[in-house]
Amino acid sequence: MNNDASAPSAKAQIGVTGLAVMGSNIARNFARNGYTVALHNRSIAKTDALLENHGGDGNFIRTETVAEFVAALERPRRVLIMVKAGDATDAVIEELADAMEPGDIIIDGGNALYTDTIRREAAMSARGLNFVGAGISGGEEGALNGPSIMPGGPVESYESLGPMLESIAAQVDGEPCCTHIGPDGSGHFVKMVHNGIEYADMQLIGEAYDLMRKALDMPVAEIADVFRAWNSTELESYLVEITADVLSQVDAETGKPLVDVIVDAAGQKGTGRWTVKSALDLGIPTTGIAEAVFARALSSSTDQRLAARGLSSGTLGSAPADRETFINDIKTALYASKVVAYAQGFDQIAAGSAEYGWDVDRGALATIWRGGCIIRAQFLNRIREAYHEDPALPSLLLAPYFRDAVEVGIDSWRRVVSTATLLGIPVPAFASSLSYYDGLRAERLPAALTQGLRDFFGAHTYQRVDKEGTFHTLWSGDRSEVTE
Ligand code: 6PG
Repeated sequence: MNNDASAPSAKAQIGVTGLAVMGSNIARNFARNGYTVALHNRSIAKTDALLENHGGDGNFIRTETVAEFVAALERPRRVLIMVKAGDATDAVIEELADAMEPGDIIIDGGNALYTDTIRREAAMSARGLNFVGAGISGGEEGALNGPSIMPGGPVESYESLGPMLESIAAQVDGEPCCTHIGPDGSGHFVKMVHNGIEYADMQLIGEAYDLMRKALDMPVAEIADVFRAWNSTELESYLVEITADVLSQVDAETGKPLVDVIVDAAGQKGTGRWTVKSALDLGIPTTGIAEAVFARALSSSTDQRLAARGLSSGTLGSAPADRETFINDIKTALYASKVVAYAQGFDQIAAGSAEYGWDVDRGALATIWRGGCIIRAQFLNRIREAYHEDPALPSLLLAPYFRDAVEVGIDSWRRVVSTATLLGIPVPAFASSLSYYDGLRAERLPAALTQGLRDFFGAHTYQRVDKEGTFHTLWSGDRSEVTE
């Protein structure tokens, strides 16, 4: 550790402000990779705790004030902000911007809302500063040992910052899980959708677990074994791996599976909800993510759920006859639904990119999600291949590999959804993903009737399948058709 910020040799290549667990771990990751890291936190106690416990990780510079912090950095200065997204971020940015000089780089590594990032980037660029909104995924462990990093912002700032971020990111097959995503809010936008997919993935895993439990009456430990086994198949992923761990955990106090003593009300900090709001604005049916967000909301409607407990289930069907076959059906349904969730998420990224002119490369994004992040999964290799093959792919479901995978599994998927329905087991994400798939492939949709109804009550007009133009039927007149 070097405490003398005034000596030229003591200049840091990067500064980290906000030293809660994520910030501390990222700072340590930089230090372990040979960078000198200036440390700053609103209360010095956190800075000192980091230095005391992990000062040996590399070269750190302890600073108390923002002025000291900024003075400790080599130019162009690079400061990574790791504070809770929201008003605190604006306050820190303002304070830093006042102390920094044109050409310096401010990086926001929190889960900021991308529209805030667009606003902040514009404000900083007007002051000659480079502002980089960087999505960082991987939780505490990833921050320390290699996260997936999604930096947006000016391309010039990536020239100076990119190599540093790439060196602390997770590496897969020799490639860093970090790439420049695009201008202004693009990094935080793709991180938001990443989190949305994370929600969908977790909801699908939860439904698979619930089916094994309720339809097959399996003990939790056996379900854990199933997930462990699935993790050596095409379902291999971080979330499936840790599902086996969480399900294997026994509560020390009661001797029960831990999952049985955890209250079944799921929380959310907002990124899943933001994804759905943005999907609505962009007109993209991100139904898997939406169902996952609503399922968390329903789980947390504690009073309502309590009051509704006695509601009738109607006559329920019987449990599947063959356990192994049904487990295999669930596995297939999980995979197919997961493909839908990713397909929808990547559609939203394409739409966001077009709306804001970001030119996001979806193949490159799949590449940096293969490691470090929460949704890292074997099949991201397949997504990467699909977009490399056809960067303009209209839907992931049309890529030959995914098309075949879903085709092979479609009967299982239908059996799972219908069995769950007959047994009264909620499977909102499995069911809506299957409906999305059926809707996407349908030759005709009832939207034609919707158009007819809209025209009836509001003269909203419609198009015809057999000729060009816009038409209206005189519903309250002689019901003849007129051209608009
Ligand atoms: C990550 C995670 C991380 C986090 C979110 C979601 O990529 O490292 O997505 O950002 O777990 O905060 O949390 P909620 O489930 O509370 O919305």
